[in-house]
Amino acid sequence: MGKCHVNSFWHDPSVATSYTEASHDLAQDVGYPAVFAALGLGASDGPKNLLDYGCGAGHTAHAATRSFGVRVCAVDTSPAMLALARRQPHHLIDFRHTDDGDLGFLPDGSMDAAMCGFVFVCVPERERLGDICRDILRALRPGGKLAVWGADPATIGTANYDGWLTEPGPYSDGAAVRSRLRQADGSWVDVTDTFWTADTYRSVLSEAGFAPVTTATLPSNSPSDASGLILVTGEKP
Ligand SMILES: C[S@@+](CC[C@H](N)C(=O)[O-])C[C@H]1O[C@@H](n2cnc3c(N)ncnc32)[C@H](O)[C@@H]1O
Repeated sequence: MGKCHVNSFWHDPSVATSYTEASHDLAQDVGYPAVFAALGLGASDGPKNLLDYGCGAGHTAHAATRSFGVRVCAVDTSPAMLALARRQPHHLIDFRHTDDGDLGFLPDGSMDAAMCGFVFVCVPERERLGDICRDILRALRPGGKLAVWGADPATIGTANYDGWLTEPGPYSDGAAVRSRLRQADGSWVDVTDTFWTADTYRSVLSEAGFAPVTTATLPSNSPSDASGLILVTGEKP
């Protein structure tokens, strides 16, 4: 995979700390169960080796290992995020740094399943999303599934995400989303994310070679909360 533009925002240790300390209730309560079910974790023939692409501080990797005893290869481009992750080592989790998002260190077909949470919004080029999906596809065994998930595009710019404020939309595909992220000390830092439609999520997986590709939107557990998640799952033929 060619060199990519890596969003260096996440390399800032104070940003990494703030993101890690923020509330992740929606992800934990709604996202994790759906992602783990989509990947077949817990089934008798379920995945044993799981890739967490863009693992951040490793919350999702730890949750998967804790609940299902799976081995996780947790990969991120941010040394600051990985430094936080490595504060909580686990013998089943291998935290790996990659300079450019490349998974060249993983043999072809070595992973049973993969998850990629809240990473697409950090990637400003559509072509790059395709590179990421193709590299994950290569690392998966046939029949292995990829679950890509994050904030539901239909809610970005309208819903209130605790600790992540976005300027009101609507946004077009690939548009910069000006946002603010709450810091651990209560102050806010400006962030530029990228808006991708649900159709782009689906298309990049299909174009990379995943089939079938399915999409689900997952509302918050609280009816008064307009935030929600998108979960796109693809299978390696
Ligand atoms: C919003 S955080 C999400 C972290 C974690 N998946 C979670 O749900 O808590 C996005 C993470 O993706 C990482 N990232 C961004 N671009 C990446 C790329 N091309 N390859 C690997 N990681 C990337 C960032 O460094 C950051 O840790």
